[in-house]
Amino acid sequence: MEVVHISAECYPVAKAGGLGDVVGALPKYQNKAGITSKVVLPMYRTPFLYTSDWVVDYKAKAYMGGWEFEYTIIKEVSNKLGFDLYLVDIAGLLDRQKIYGYADDAKRFTAFQIAVVHWMSHWNHQPTAVHCHDYHAGLIPFMMQHCYDYQNLKDVPTVLTIHNAQYQGWMPWAQSLLIPRWDLSKKGLLDWGDSINPLAAAIKCASKVTTVSPSYMQELMHNANGLETLIAAEKNKCVGILNGIDHEVWNPSTDNYLTEHFSVKTVTAGKQKNKQNICDQFGLDAAKPLFVFIGRLVGEKAADVLPGALHIAVQTYGAKASYVILGSGEPAVEAGLTNLALANNNCIKVSVGYNESLSHGLYAAADFLLMPSRVEPCGLNQLYAMRYGTVPMVRSTGGLQDTVIDMGDEGGYGIRFTHANETDIVQSIRRAVEVFENKKHLLWMRERMMQINHSWEQTVQSYTRVYDSI
Ligand code: ADP
Ligand code: GLC
Repeated sequence: MEVVHISAECYPVAKAGGLGDVVGALPKYQNKAGITSKVVLPMYRTPFLYTSDWVVDYKAKAYMGGWEFEYTIIKEVSNKLGFDLYLVDIAGLLDRQKIYGYADDAKRFTAFQIAVVHWMSHWNHQPTAVHCHDYHAGLIPFMMQHCYDYQNLKDVPTVLTIHNAQYQGWMPWAQSLLIPRWDLSKKGLLDWGDSINPLAAAIKCASKVTTVSPSYMQELMHNANGLETLIAAEKNKCVGILNGIDHEVWNPSTDNYLTEHFSVKTVTAGKQKNKQNICDQFGLDAAKPLFVFIGRLVGEKAADVLPGALHIAVQTYGAKASYVILGSGEPAVEAGLTNLALANNNCIKVSVGYNESLSHGLYAAADFLLMPSRVEPCGLNQLYAMRYGTVPMVRSTGGLQDTVIDMGDEGGYGIRFTHANETDIVQSIRRAVEVFENKKHLLWMRERMMQINHSWEQTVQSYTRVYDSI
């Protein structure tokens, strides 16, 4: 079986969030399970490019609208990541440092997808399945089936995995000219709400659709940023498969980013040493419970509620607890948090930016990880936190609801709440402060969480069943 994953992110080549983690891990574990799984992504100018060895695999010209462009496919030579990795270079569009955030993103990802389909249509064999991730690869199933030049791919099965339906890649109809000659009678497959919607097109055209947790699959029928009726109509080909975590990367006994390694047996002392290190770095008191938030500072993550909630928490508990926030995103939220930290310098610290190393240190050091997300298709942070013995505090939604059992329920090890608002967050901090003082129970929860198996090995089988079914 040969599966080609097409994505905008893949750790450690290019990562902005969980999509990168998943595409960097799932193919590796698929290869271990005997599936030939490959990854194709744009050739951004990230450090990985300059520290790896490459060969040119293919070079050709394709059209996007009236523009003929040259693309080059390079392949990593040493199988460094445990799977074949291909990068697509298109001068002027993909040769940039960042993954997203450019005014011409729609054009960039359309050209990327054209190049990938053009390249695959010149292979001397066909893959078993093409696996598209999120909207950046959403036009591919349509192009394989309905562009005249790629008809030799029309019967290749396709899978779409929705990591996040909030982002759909909308394009005005004027940009339909960018898509290589296609069967105009199929216009309806591209359209959703009078614009080209790559995510909707993929939901319509893919042989199967997966979401990254079972609960998110259900939620999408009621809350999918405008795609609810489409998801409901296509529900028979949709399935929710919970993400795994790469336990070779996220392992507190071997994690290279940690100052002190630890296991279930040494969790109390090991976490305390990591906490001391982080607290020394930030000027915090390691005797107090440490709460962390790691993530994109956007509405989906309810990051806008944090400044108000932490302000109340500090008023209520004084300096009984410490808080570290790592993230970047909406300028107003960044400013709100930075100002709050300035006003409460003894217990709140904010690190604005993306910092892989610090994130690992925080998962290991923290007592509690706060995730009040309004929308959370799966969420990996809570899974990493649990692996590092850190109690997740989550809003009951999507994958958070599928992976965290409240400590008030039988066998529970986390804290769950219902609303992404100040009241619920402050109330959950109160429960956390209480359990922090009950050392025996805290240890029991840590040991319990660290032994939960969220490895990719079991998830790989669910994906294999999806490929088998098509
Ligand atoms: P999402 O993909 O929606 O952002 P996930 O929980 O699936 O959320 O994954 C987030 C991933 O990105 C995790 O690996 C997390 O550690 C990482 N991450 C998020 N923000 C930062 C940051 N500022 N610095 C380092 N890592 C971050
Ligand atoms: C998205 C989602 C997140 C999920 C990740 C990986 O970024 O927001 O919840 O964990 O994809 O699937």
